[in-house]
Amino acid sequence: MRGQTQGRLTKDGITLHDPSDFEGMRASCQLAARTLDMIGEHVKPGVSTLELDTLIHEYIEANGATSATVGYRGYQHASCISLNHVVCHGIPSDKRIKDGDILNIDVTCILDGWFGDTSRMYKAGKLARRSERLIEVTHESLFQGIEQVKPGNTFGDIGAAIQRYVEKQRMSVVRDFCGHGLGRVFHSAPNVLHYGRWGTGPVLEPGMFFTIEPMVNLGRPDTKVLADDWTAVTRDRSLSAQFEHSIGVTEDGCEIFTLSPANKFHPTWTD
Ligand code: MF3
Ligand code: CO
Ligand code: CO
Repeated sequence: MRGQTQGRLTKDGITLHDPSDFEGMRASCQLAARTLDMIGEHVKPGVSTLELDTLIHEYIEANGATSATVGYRGYQHASCISLNHVVCHGIPSDKRIKDGDILNIDVTCILDGWFGDTSRMYKAGKLARRSERLIEVTHESLFQGIEQVKPGNTFGDIGAAIQRYVEKQRMSVVRDFCGHGLGRVFHSAPNVLHYGRWGTGPVLEPGMFFTIEPMVNLGRPDTKVLADDWTAVTRDRSLSAQFEHSIGVTEDGCEIFTLSPANKFHPTWTD
């Protein structure tokens, strides 16, 4: 396993990257973020999720990268597009987006061997107030988690901060999916839970690279995976939202590798 990565491993099996590794990660993650900036222009009622996926795939390849999800465990697309009550891993299809829909688009590219993984919410037309609120709360919950990312804090602190914030808003945090270490691999230790107890779990150290990607539901947290073996939906069919950033721990805090270069990260940017 060790041959797959470079750098040192902690006792929990988490890779500690060197300062020079930040450059490669930044480049890949910025391409992933630009891909999400680009696709925002195309999200509107009437477009199919497969059309969006094709644009994403072409953009990633035109920029000298490849999609990490094409061929990953049999997955065949360059994005996951999760509409309304789909929690994550929605498969692009000929289904068309309608007025009032909310959707998450998740892309992971590989540039020069580095994996850049990020997702955002998008909206089509005019949203119900509860959909707007769900998106706002989910975005803020990610940043509540990111605020905890500095050496000496624990992974439990990240989860606890997200859970505390979301539950205070009377929404729920999905337990069945988590963030993950990444770098020269797509998914590695640790599992980054979006709920948990303060002060528990591995201690954060400079050079750790991982995602935080909370999924928040308006109803119950329970999910189920459909017969296609990918699409995860809320069991109660309540709306679900998600944002994801790839992050690196620095000496005094963190670098968010996947921030939008165009500042389009906020869900209301199209207004
Ligand atoms: N990008 C997703 C994540 O955040 C993983 C998608 S795997 C796929 O980890 F095969 F469903 F695309
Ligand atoms: Co991820
Ligand atoms: Co992702």
